[in-house]
Amino acid sequence: MTRRLLVTHALPYANGPLHLGHMLGYIQTDIWVRSQRMMGNEVYFVAADDAHGTPIMLAAEKAGVSPEAFIADMRASHEADFTDFHFSYDNYYTTHSEENRELASLIYTRLRDSGYIAKRSIQQLFDPDKQMFLPDRYIKGTCPKCGTPDQYGDNCENCGATYAPTDLINPYSVVSGATPVLRDSEHYFFELSKFEELLRNWFSGKLTDGKPVANPGVVAKLKEWLDGGLKDWDISRDAPYFGFPIPDAPGKFFYVWLDAPVGYLAGFKNLCERAGVRFEDFLAPNSGAEMHHFIGKDIINFHGLFWPAMLHGAQFRTPTALHVNGYLTVNGAKMSKSRGTFIQARTYLTAGLNPEFLRYYFATMLNDAPVDVDLDLKAFEERVNSHLIGKWVNIASRTAGFVHKFFHGQLAANFSPEQNELWSVLISHYEGVPALYEAGEFAEAMRRFVLIADLVNGHIAAKAPWVMAKDETQRDELHQVCSFALAAFRLLGGLLKPVLPVTVEAAEKFLAAPIADFDAACATLHNHTIHTFEPLLARIDPKLIEAMVEASKESLGSAPEPETKKPAKKDSKPMTEATVTTTESNLISIDDFAKLDLRVGKVLACEFVEGSDKLLRFELDAGPLGKRQIFSGIRAAYGEPEKLVGRNVVFIANLAPRKMRFGVSEGMILSAGEGGSDLFLLDADQGAKPGATVR
Ligand code: 2FM
Ligand code: ZN
Repeated sequence: MTRRLLVTHALPYANGPLHLGHMLGYIQTDIWVRSQRMMGNEVYFVAADDAHGTPIMLAAEKAGVSPEAFIADMRASHEADFTDFHFSYDNYYTTHSEENRELASLIYTRLRDSGYIAKRSIQQLFDPDKQMFLPDRYIKGTCPKCGTPDQYGDNCENCGATYAPTDLINPYSVVSGATPVLRDSEHYFFELSKFEELLRNWFSGKLTDGKPVANPGVVAKLKEWLDGGLKDWDISRDAPYFGFPIPDAPGKFFYVWLDAPVGYLAGFKNLCERAGVRFEDFLAPNSGAEMHHFIGKDIINFHGLFWPAMLHGAQFRTPTALHVNGYLTVNGAKMSKSRGTFIQARTYLTAGLNPEFLRYYFATMLNDAPVDVDLDLKAFEERVNSHLIGKWVNIASRTAGFVHKFFHGQLAANFSPEQNELWSVLISHYEGVPALYEAGEFAEAMRRFVLIADLVNGHIAAKAPWVMAKDETQRDELHQVCSFALAAFRLLGGLLKPVLPVTVEAAEKFLAAPIADFDAACATLHNHTIHTFEPLLARIDPKLIEAMVEASKESLGSAPEPETKKPAKKDSKPMTEATVTTTESNLISIDDFAKLDLRVGKVLACEFVEGSDKLLRFELDAGPLGKRQIFSGIRAAYGEPEKLVGRNVVFIANLAPRKMRFGVSEGMILSAGEGGSDLFLLDADQGAKPGATVR
């Protein structure tokens, strides 16, 4: 039966350009959507700009334009990026729409009328110059714990302390520099604790026919929050605010996070009206339709607690599933403006890099778990060149010419018996691919691609058609080898189509054989006539990557951070030089990091050290570095050392050897924790080779 799916990804704020961190989860969604369409399902892919909130209001003011004009420009910029990265939305909308105003008001009214909204007065910091209440991130001051100035209202970046903005010493408004004052204000709260049972049922899959609503780690996290007790959620903000007014509450607006997820439905409603789809069919509880949200791991609470409760409380269905992705790092570290790794989507494109290459790289890294993904720019270059050009496009470029030269562009009437056998093997690897896409296991699907491509290239290399072509007596076999290769090239195209829609479309045209769905790619193309081959993809020139990094260094300052206004008042301490040094001294350069030779070591032996109550003696297989003996002070944490044999630990290989009473220690094994029994070995997943460099 055809499934009906509404699919969304997290809505980007309309306050800044998209960067590659955004693109990770968004591309993941588009790949999933395209794979669902190839499975024959009815899919509606909807997203929008998240257009409300204080940062957008202030950014518009700073730009000297109305918030409406500001968000319209931003939406145009986002849409251009999405188009150029080949997103296949059915609707890309905005949360600042009439549909959203109506739906947010309807949901709120239903919640209120069912007794889920409470009102109470709270005290909040208010900027007397700007005449507005200040969100935590718009208040700075001196950390009450360590005394570092200029810390945000909720936590200290220096000592990590968390606190209330009212705890800050010498607080000031980031907007005006004025000293904030405490003021009372009546706020509206959504009583989440009334939904505990609903949420428990939803987490356990009772509302989704037993299907898990998220990856087990995500569900465990949600349960942990629930077990810790659910607090009421403050859904109102005072004027001035860019958002929707709360119907029965003059001067009060919905907090942006109230109407943002409603924006998924509003975007879909807008589409339904144009496309003749019945919106209600998707929204009714127990409707057979599915609702899938792709989100980042930082917003699990909004989507896994508030959102299902809001929907249920307003008599709508709950989501079918949350698909959660991790963060993006670049070259092994947080994206950094000074290193040029805070890369905007547009900078990537302007550098001349093919958007499908990023889609492919991400696909090779993504699975169902919310794991962080590293964009290692060297690996990116090598993987794309080796896999897509070296392993895939080359299949066609090495064989199509012969088909035209000797066989008028027509493929052979059959495969050889050996090829029939190989074809069955290829199909057996291909068959599981739709299920892998369905499960979000894209990395495994891409491994299948490499596996199949390697088998095909092995066949081509063994037969060497370029040698056969010189011998007229081998024409039939040459015909079969090239025809087999091209059918396999198309099979791989089917596998890659959700990831590389544009290149695969070009391949379909070349083969004169569209790939409408996953099954269609399995045709053997006997007697089929193809068009002339044109190069499909060019290798990545490393200079383009360098140019992108350089350009990213230049686009400094385009981040959507609030501009900090320093206080004018005498009693507020300015940032001293000493403080600057303290902060900067915590940072190291990439060159400092590169000095560490971190390696994977496989534990060959591990034992207690006689005469020491702290140490364990390890013998590691360090691959090309040979064997290493290392003494490590983790005995209190690991009482059964023999159980560590076989693990892939991480160690510093270039630490100067240290002569100890028990022998020489040749490195240091890494572990996390406070010390004593609170120590946990870091290890690499199975498959990492002994001696492999940790970057
Ligand atoms: O975290 C964010 O970037 C939000 N703009 C995501 C909103 S997702 C949805 F709820 F609208
Ligand atoms: Zn501090």
